[in-house]
Amino acid sequence: MAPPSSEEPAAAQAAGAGAISKVLVVIAMQTEALPLVTRFQLVEAAADESIFPKGAPWTRYHGDYKGLHIDLVWPGKDPVLGVDSVGTVSAALVTYASIQLLKPDLIINAGTAGGFKARGAGIGDVFLASDVAFHDRRIPIPVFDSYGIGARKTFETPNIVKELNFKVGKLSTGDSLDMSPHDETAILSNEATVKDMEGAAVAYVADLFSTPAIFVKAVTDIVDGEKPTAEEFLQNLISVTMALDQAVMQVVDFISGKCISDL
Ligand code: ADE
Repeated sequence: MAPPSSEEPAAAQAAGAGAISKVLVVIAMQTEALPLVTRFQLVEAAADESIFPKGAPWTRYHGDYKGLHIDLVWPGKDPVLGVDSVGTVSAALVTYASIQLLKPDLIINAGTAGGFKARGAGIGDVFLASDVAFHDRRIPIPVFDSYGIGARKTFETPNIVKELNFKVGKLSTGDSLDMSPHDETAILSNEATVKDMEGAAVAYVADLFSTPAIFVKAVTDIVDGEKPTAEEFLQNLISVTMALDQAVMQVVDFISGKCISDL
């Protein structure tokens, strides 16, 4: 094959050298997902073209944007209670199914998070997670203890960090919005700056299937602040979702025409 000519557009040159073409965005809440659906002009997969097993509330939006095929999935509403299926179980399931069925080149797990002001987080800050771990899986038996914590480095993206100026910090994941004293000890030990309910679960599944994954988290509430978490989270959800939307667009714009090794 002839080498790409220097007159070719960057995207075409990169395509010849294994450019990223399929991006999977995993998002837990509808409120977080819809601005991105609009931003990338994605369309919802119709019921008769659903790739997911019958009965799963998981929802997929898809479309093309700047040479990339984007699939955005969210775990949908709980079939009984009608609220967003937040948390690690739903996130792991939808990530697993999406990797198997869509074979993405890259996963972006985007969402909101609690931030620790003692570690430099403020409301509306956007973080790229350098590491993830769980803070509510306690198994005090040698080796099982490390398995429970599930600490891992995320896929390194030095060029995204340099270019887009996001903050970088460690992310700790658990299935509760609030923070028990046990969680607090574990989060401190994980050296986390941000805290969410999905990241480490998405990372676990992505690692199982050798799929690079990055974590973009926007801070809605200050965990070590004065305000009750749930109240502060709900108060800031809409405005911080706009910051998240902007950040994910910047990441996707950066990715367009690039190879995994360029990130
Ligand atoms: N998402 C937004 N705020 C959060 C918090 N404080 N804990 C876990 N997930 C969150």
